Amino acid sequence: MELPWAEPYRMKTIEPIRRSTREDRAAWIREAKYNLFNLRSEQVYIDLLTDSGTGAMSSAQWAEMMLGDESYAGASSYYKLKDSIEEVFGFTSFLPCHQGRAAENVLFSALIGVGDAGAGKVVPGNSHFDTTKGHIEFRKARTIDCTIAEAFDTQADHPFKGNVDLGKLKAVLESHPREAVPVCILTITCNSSGGQPVSMENIEGVSALCRTHGVPLFFDSARFAENAYFIKTRERGYADKDVRSIVREMFSYADGMTMSSKKDGIVNIGGFVAFRDEALWQKASTFNIMFEGFNTYGGMAGRDMGALSVGLKEACELDYLESRVGQVAYLGGLLTEYGIAVQRPYGGHAIFVDARRLLPTVPKEEFIAQTLGIELYLEAGVRGIEIGTLLADRDPDTGEERYPALELLRLAIPRRTYTNDHMKYIAAGLANVKERAASIRRGYRIVREAPIMRHFTVELTPAE
Ligand code: F0G
Repeated sequence: MELPWAEPYRMKTIEPIRRSTREDRAAWIREAKYNLFNLRSEQVYIDLLTDSGTGAMSSAQWAEMMLGDESYAGASSYYKLKDSIEEVFGFTSFLPCHQGRAAENVLFSALIGVGDAGAGKVVPGNSHFDTTKGHIEFRKARTIDCTIAEAFDTQADHPFKGNVDLGKLKAVLESHPREAVPVCILTITCNSSGGQPVSMENIEGVSALCRTHGVPLFFDSARFAENAYFIKTRERGYADKDVRSIVREMFSYADGMTMSSKKDGIVNIGGFVAFRDEALWQKASTFNIMFEGFNTYGGMAGRDMGALSVGLKEACELDYLESRVGQVAYLGGLLTEYGIAVQRPYGGHAIFVDARRLLPTVPKEEFIAQTLGIELYLEAGVRGIEIGTLLADRDPDTGEERYPALELLRLAIPRRTYTNDHMKYIAAGLANVKERAASIRRGYRIVREAPIMRHFTVELTPAE
């Protein structure tokens, strides 16, 4: 028989995690104002809040931590990272930043401007991540979501639900003067639409449109390796190409990239922004020095740059990607067997549960996906994250709630961290919530919220 995949590593260090009682959890979530971000990590048994900075590093990465060169300028760890970025992505100019949103801040300061410089400007793309959108709206510019319609139907089977609708993008580019579109951002994989990949054909199409209109194209590259794996396994003509060459081909279409290294860099902290245009690098470097740090460390310790230089390459190894994406699909398969609707096909870093289908009687004004997240925590001590109305924030112009097309509970799987037995436990927990779904009729209302990116700090109370 064909041998199944198994993890291409064995464990050398373990970190104990503990179960709790339902009574404990009910008290803890109340104290946390029904915001899962407010829980202490010891109050969580299996933590699927994010796959960001929560992965396990390899022994080779830990070795680089010891070799870290902490010189302020010209550290050897910086040059190791520089070599890695050039080898993996083909970019020779980059600026290290403390994480992905910092890279966005530096890039948008250079491309959109600071203060209200973005007024009247638009940034098209495929479902921009919330920090990306936050940085754009903070500058008074607006995002325009050009993701294909299939992405918003969780049950529609489409191999590349992160794709851009080229017609929509063309219309945006044709209806705005060049100065009003400072950049187009393509997120690979597309987190907000369910960890869904963008095909090489679509990348090429987006790049051609941007080039025609003279608009720079940047990739939000947090999960670039997972995207490359999906191209290899789902797109015609790529089955026999290795992941590294697919990554190089993907990035050959970009003018630059922002990176949250906490994902496919497999490190706990870090990010960078890379450029093809030397003049833009120079402009951005002033902001980097102001906001992050000098150009050869920019908010990262030398040891972290060293670990990242290794992680970027490990993330492209086929055995690793097979077990990584395979584990996410394993969880998706278990949930499907339990009759729970999840975004299909399964994404790269997470399973996205269709909360509206699971809790059909909770009103949309009472935060359906958040309600499901709280129920799963109460049931099993598993922490997911709401990708729904709370995350979507209010419309910055009208202050009205903007109800997104989907109410999702994201179960993000940290890299190389949990086993498939954990996946079984998570699925059983959610199946139990489904069993009693008919009795969950009410959700939550807001007591306090921040004006932007409110989901991190929002305080809630039961609606009844
Ligand atoms: N872009 C994408 C697609 C992301 O998913 C994230 C972070 C960022 C940018 C920002 O990077 O956190 O390093 O500042 N996503 C995390 C998540 C927080 O849980 O999905 P950061």
